[in-house]
Amino acid sequence: MEEKRNGNESKWWKSAVIYQIYPRSFADSNGDGIGDLQGIISKLDYLENLGIDAIWLSPVCRSPQDDNGYDISDYRDIDPMFGTLADMEELIAEAGKRHIRIIMDLVLNHSSDEHPWFQEAKKSRENPYHDYYVWRDGREGELPNDMRAAFGGPAWEWVPEVQQYYFHQFSVKQPDLNWENPKLRREIYDMINWWIGKGVGGFRLDVIDQIAKEPDQKITCNGPRLHEYLRELSRETFQKADLVTVGEAWGATLELAKLYSNPDNSELSMVFQFEHICLDQMAGKEKWDLAPLPFLKLKEVFERWQTQLHGKGWNSLFWNNHDLPRIVSRWGNDDEYRVESAKMLAILLHGMQGTPYIYQGEELGMTNVRYKMEEYRDIETLNLYQERLEKGYKEEEIMASIYAKSRDNARTPMQWDDGENAGFTAAAPWIRVNPNYKEINAAAQTAAEDSVFGCYRKLIRLRKEYPVFVDGEFRMLLKEDENIFAYTRTDSGSQLLVVCNFYDKTIDISLKELDNAGELLVCSYKDAGQTTVLRPYEARMYWKKS
Ligand code: GLC
Ligand code: CA
Repeated sequence: MEEKRNGNESKWWKSAVIYQIYPRSFADSNGDGIGDLQGIISKLDYLENLGIDAIWLSPVCRSPQDDNGYDISDYRDIDPMFGTLADMEELIAEAGKRHIRIIMDLVLNHSSDEHPWFQEAKKSRENPYHDYYVWRDGREGELPNDMRAAFGGPAWEWVPEVQQYYFHQFSVKQPDLNWENPKLRREIYDMINWWIGKGVGGFRLDVIDQIAKEPDQKITCNGPRLHEYLRELSRETFQKADLVTVGEAWGATLELAKLYSNPDNSELSMVFQFEHICLDQMAGKEKWDLAPLPFLKLKEVFERWQTQLHGKGWNSLFWNNHDLPRIVSRWGNDDEYRVESAKMLAILLHGMQGTPYIYQGEELGMTNVRYKMEEYRDIETLNLYQERLEKGYKEEEIMASIYAKSRDNARTPMQWDDGENAGFTAAAPWIRVNPNYKEINAAAQTAAEDSVFGCYRKLIRLRKEYPVFVDGEFRMLLKEDENIFAYTRTDSGSQLLVVCNFYDKTIDISLKELDNAGELLVCSYKDAGQTTVLRPYEARMYWKKS
């Protein structure tokens, strides 16, 4: 009964797998070194072959590209660098023919300072657009408070014309929008409905937990009116169509996730939260302050989200996105066991409950890079470098942080083949190609069943074939084991068993569930090996009727 009442119980996105494209790094069709929409269209067959259901497209709207498109100056047009509105319509249609939906990235916390709203807003306090942004009176040189922006520097910028400061949680070119203003909210809803009219399949909501800021109280995440705004947004837009919506929420706890993804459909389909992926940093410090991954804690975090959100909300499953380093370099092994560890991480994640996200190149086991400083492009990395140099950090120490955590690790061009520039572009790419493209590329993997690509393709198929992937209850096994990540998923008729060796040593495993595990669905090695011995990064997934 309970299940029947749940508004989104049989939603398509519960068995879907979503693929994220970072357009500037995916495929360049016109030889300017920057990926574009026609480039994506030319690769739809590749994605159809992989088997994904939807593409989350990082922002393609018109933008000065201060933060690679996360600074939008026209929400209803495509940036010429990526193509035209007609190209976008073609992409939606061509993807649709392959049963792939397009999910747009909505950046609603802030706009570009070059957006006409902001251009008007800064003219005078009486301007009708002034209140679309967050302003505080003050005197030049005397900041309203000591809040800092995420990309370094103060969160306040002085505008002499109005003798006020505007608030920006990200770069100075990303002024925060004022959600307290109902006119601004209305404009946003109209814009979203316009895109829904164009046939998009859903939306990813950028830093959505930051829209309800209260700078006077130094509140950025989870402001008091956040869920009120989300419910209004959902009612005025998303609920009118069969869409998937996912909220990026760095500050989401389990309790908050239940609000965001309440099955009554009052807010969003699912939450995209980061608790598991922030574990390898020093407590209370920044992501650059590296610490080894606490493996038992990782297991505890996954278990908590898997068991406590079950039936009460919906989560995203991910290791990567355009802001995170490559998982195979981060928590796998990008050397001798690259293939095995990339598959292990895939199997570990894809057996769980939630909607899996694959970030471009993850399905090939693409790795991090170690570039010279002048080869980095990301505003966050460039600012961090300067800031830490000024604070007296040693060069090697800063570079170690950048190698491990720079967002550019994820933004190097997609490795299509072993030809020039990895087949990404015919010109000089906007960011250097990872030199390992001759070995790691799509052409070398798509035909091979035992490639990382082959493993991802299989996992995607399995999710569609076996309902237990979607509904099964999660139970963690061997909780205290320092090397093994093992769990079952169980529904009324069947059981999935996933057993993974997270490290590079061979280990004996004693687990009664292995005695009668059933059919081996997928393994990170070509051959099944011995049941009670796990080779380095060996992962196995079994299924049986119960
Ligand atoms: C999100 C995006 C990130 C961007 C930031 C500001 O975290 O994923 O790439 O820089 O928001 O829009
Ligand atoms: Ca191009």
